[in-house]
Order: sequence, then structure tokens, then C-alpha cells
Amino acid sequence: MPLPPSEPLLAVEGLRVSFTGAEAVRGVSFDIQPGEVLALVGESGAGKSLTARALLGLTPHGAAVSGRVLLRGAPVTAADLGRRLAWIPQDAMASLSPVHRVDTQLAFAARSSARRRREALAVARQALAQVGLTGEAVSAYPHALSGGMRQRAVIAMALVDGPELVVADEPTTALDPERRDQILALLRERCAAAGAALLLVSHDLESVRRHADRVAVMYAGRIVELGSAEAVLGRPSAPYTRGLLASLPTAGLPHRSRLPSFEGVPQPSAAGCAFAPRCPRADARCRGEDPGPRAYGDRLVACHHPWEVAA
Ligand SMILES: Nc1ncnc2c1ncn2[C@@H]1O[C@H](COP(=O)(O)OP(=O)(O)OP(=O)(O)O)[C@@H](O)[C@H]1O
Ligand SMILES: [Mg+2]
Repeated sequence: MPLPPSEPLLAVEGLRVSFTGAEAVRGVSFDIQPGEVLALVGESGAGKSLTARALLGLTPHGAAVSGRVLLRGAPVTAADLGRRLAWIPQDAMASLSPVHRVDTQLAFAARSSARRRREALAVARQALAQVGLTGEAVSAYPHALSGGMRQRAVIAMALVDGPELVVADEPTTALDPERRDQILALLRERCAAAGAALLLVSHDLESVRRHADRVAVMYAGRIVELGSAEAVLGRPSAPYTRGLLASLPTAGLPHRSRLPSFEGVPQPSAAGCAFAPRCPRADARCRGEDPGPRAYGDRLVACHHPWEVAA
């Protein structure tokens, strides 16, 4: 694959996260280009949230993290969080304080770019207006807002200090389905307007198809396929990606390629491909030899028997 023209905004190299011996993220590498939207998808327990959190130094207590995360070539530091890197958690209430007005909270978040208090409040109100929050909502307390309005406030707060990367973990799951796509569209649009890249963790492949530039598919703590959203979701190559897409009712793939089950957490064996026990293409090699990621056509695939796809 051709090298990207510029230095990546974020480079993740061999990221591992483990808990008392059990590895939940098992050597994840990818980069994010300035301004792009990269989606991290995969079923529950794949390690998406841990990967996203590890980039920000927000892994849970007891997690051992190794590997490198470089922001424009330099290791990420605690001071980058909230300034160069913004975090949007699943539940908007978790990032809003219940005891402060929305505009006051944003003004505080804007402190590094707008130092004087009055200036910060003006910056905060402008950021709120950009996500469609005006009038009484601006000076309200979070509990007085609807779920959608809170999520808008959180988006404004993430962007108010001019971050280079926004990391959003399932930012719309608390909302009803009609609102989700609207909020994701808003998030993408505001990131683009601010020149910020977006790492979007999502279960919702249809939204990802619409809003992401590239997609990384995770399975059992590894990235199994990485490429443009069009390539990965339109012409999936890894058997796991095909199974994931076939499990959607709207996908164009044959019904029989559905994954047998989406229950439980995959148990990677010591040797071999973690997906082998569920994979229709698995053979002895897959059970004995771990496939590393390699360039395959227009994407990266970690699989001994990827489906051929036209580039
Ligand atoms: N605090 C923890 N202690 C021990 N194990 C953990 C902890 N947090 C996560 N794990 C394990 O790490 C694995 C990956 O978790 P993670 O939350 O990253 O999954 P995910 O892909 O975000 O799933 P979901 O789609 O359900 O949010 C899980 O199997 C989980 O059991
Ligand atoms: Mg998660």
C-alpha cells in the first residue's frame, strides 16, 4: 500500500491491554490521518473501548498497557487529554456535571484557548450555537435538557478547546434510533468544520458506512480488517467481517453466511487465529498459525484465507 503523504496525526503501534494475565487487546496497530473519520467496529467484548481508552490513558484500574501511542510523532501525555485529544463517552451525563449550567461547563472546558472568563463564556455560547443549542438551553442545567440536547452539548464541549482528535465511544447508544444518525452526522460535521479527526467506536455498521472514511474491524483483541469504509463494508474480505455484515438484516450477503452466534466473548487460543473456531474457511493452518495483518489488495487483512475482492 502507498505510504500516506503526511505524518499521521495519531500512530498506534502494538497496543496491548491485559488484566491479570488475560489479554483483552492483543497487539493493535493503526494510524489516524489529520481530519479523517476512522471507525472501530466489532462485536461486544472485541476490545474496542479498551483500545479507545488506552489511546487517552483512560484504561481501568488494574489494566496493564504496553505499546506506543504517538500524537504527531511524540508520545501522548496526560496534558493532551481534554486539549489536543477529546473524549466523548457513551453516556452524555457521564461527561456533564449536574451542578453547573451548560454554558459555564463549556466555558471551563474552553479555558486553554480562551483565557479570560468573559471571553470563555462567549466561546462556549458560540460552540453551543454551532450544535443548535440556543436560548434557554444554553444556560440550563443538564437535567433540564433532553437526551439529544445533552449529546449536542457534549459534542460542543468536546470541540470547544480545538482538539486535533475526538475519540467517541458509542456516542449515541443512549438515544432513540432516529436521533442517532442525526447526532452522528452532527458530530462528523462539527469535527470536519473544526479540522479535528474522529475515532468513532460503534456497533452500528449502517451509520459507520455513512459517516466513516476508514473502518477497522476488531475481533478478540485484534484488528482483522482495515481499509476504506467502501472497501471493508462494501466488499468485505476477512470471513469475520463478512459474518458481521451478514448478521445485519439489510446486508446483501447470503443468509447462510450469518455467524452462528454473537453471544459471549471469543476465547483466543494460544496458537492460531482467534476466529478459527467459528470460521467457515478455517483449516489446520488457521488453528495452528496466527495470521498477522498484511496488505491484501486495497486493505489490511489478518487472515490466512481472505475472500478475494476486486481492488
Ligand atoms: N476492567 C476490566 N477488568 C477485566 N477485564 C476487562 C475490563 N474491562 C474490559 N475487560 C475485558 O476486555 C474485553 C474487551 O472489553 P471492551 O470493553 O474493550 O469491549 P468492547 O469491544 O468495547 O465491547 P462493547 O461493544 O460491549 O462495548 C472484554 O472481554 C472484557 O471482559
Ligand atoms: Mg465498548
